[in-house]
Amino acid sequence: MSRNKVFVTRELPAAALDRLARHCELDVWDGFLPPEYDIMLKKAHSLSGLLCLLTDRVDARLLAAAPDLKVVSNMAVGYDNIDVAAASARGIPVGNTPGVLTETTADFAFALLMAAARRIPEARQYIHAGKWQTWHPTVLSGRDIYGACLGIIGFGRIGQAVARRAAGFGMRILTHSRGNSEQSLAAGAESCDLDELLEQSDFVSLHLPLTDETRQFIGARELSLMKPTAILINTARGGVVDQAALYEALRHKAILAAALDVTDPEPIPLESPLLTLDNCLIVPHIASASVATRLKMAQMAVDNCIAGLRGEKLPTCVNTQVYSSR
Ligand code: DGY
Repeated sequence: MSRNKVFVTRELPAAALDRLARHCELDVWDGFLPPEYDIMLKKAHSLSGLLCLLTDRVDARLLAAAPDLKVVSNMAVGYDNIDVAAASARGIPVGNTPGVLTETTADFAFALLMAAARRIPEARQYIHAGKWQTWHPTVLSGRDIYGACLGIIGFGRIGQAVARRAAGFGMRILTHSRGNSEQSLAAGAESCDLDELLEQSDFVSLHLPLTDETRQFIGARELSLMKPTAILINTARGGVVDQAALYEALRHKAILAAALDVTDPEPIPLESPLLTLDNCLIVPHIASASVATRLKMAQMAVDNCIAGLRGEKLPTCVNTQVYSSR
């Protein structure tokens, strides 16, 4: 009997791949960069499973080219790279990796907040540029974090984990999210409308999934409501911010600074005007990048893939409706 064939779009930790290999015939992409779309398309016809990353576009065309596909398993909590509606229409379950990256991502959102508030990247550059001559009363002064007001937009697992950290810093916490007032209260935060949050917050941290409704959620209007001393942190998806509007806001000092783990597109082109700004800290989508968390994400993606190959319910499935229609 021929074995299920699974394409894994990047080398994962061996512990995870070895486990998957016991259940299928594995084809692992060994490039550092993602496989090109056309390559995925060519492979699709023979696949029973696809274990992909957020860098891989899994659209209706690709799914249609894979008649035997039983499962798509994304090694990420976000799944805006996958046409879930098209997968659901075919009855294909889509898995993601929620939970295991919550604390690591929240740590990093807070690290970005602190780095931007206290101007750590600038301070490092200052030394490397030979500018450190003395202790000076005003040089490289930043913004206080303790006692400041943090606005959290999107109050799911990661937003709540950021709130826990903020509580330790004695911050006032405002939240804006769909139906979160009870969770907000439990976290010692106040739920409020978007404009109020933007007007009152010293820091605004984004924790929204990227969907048609949240695309460019933060645009010129929203930025204009923020304090001129405010700092925007984005560890969600680049597409939730209008980057052209952000550039203008930062350039004209309508807000103080931004710290971005995510951009649109990724990687950010080197000619992007955002990279010319001293008040914009950009890092390459690494909020979940701890050794332990990336291993857990890989293991979880493998668990979903194995379950899908066996025709069992995925442990973490984003389109559970595929089971009710069976
Ligand atoms: C995710 O899992 O969606 C994260 O963006 C990965 O860092």
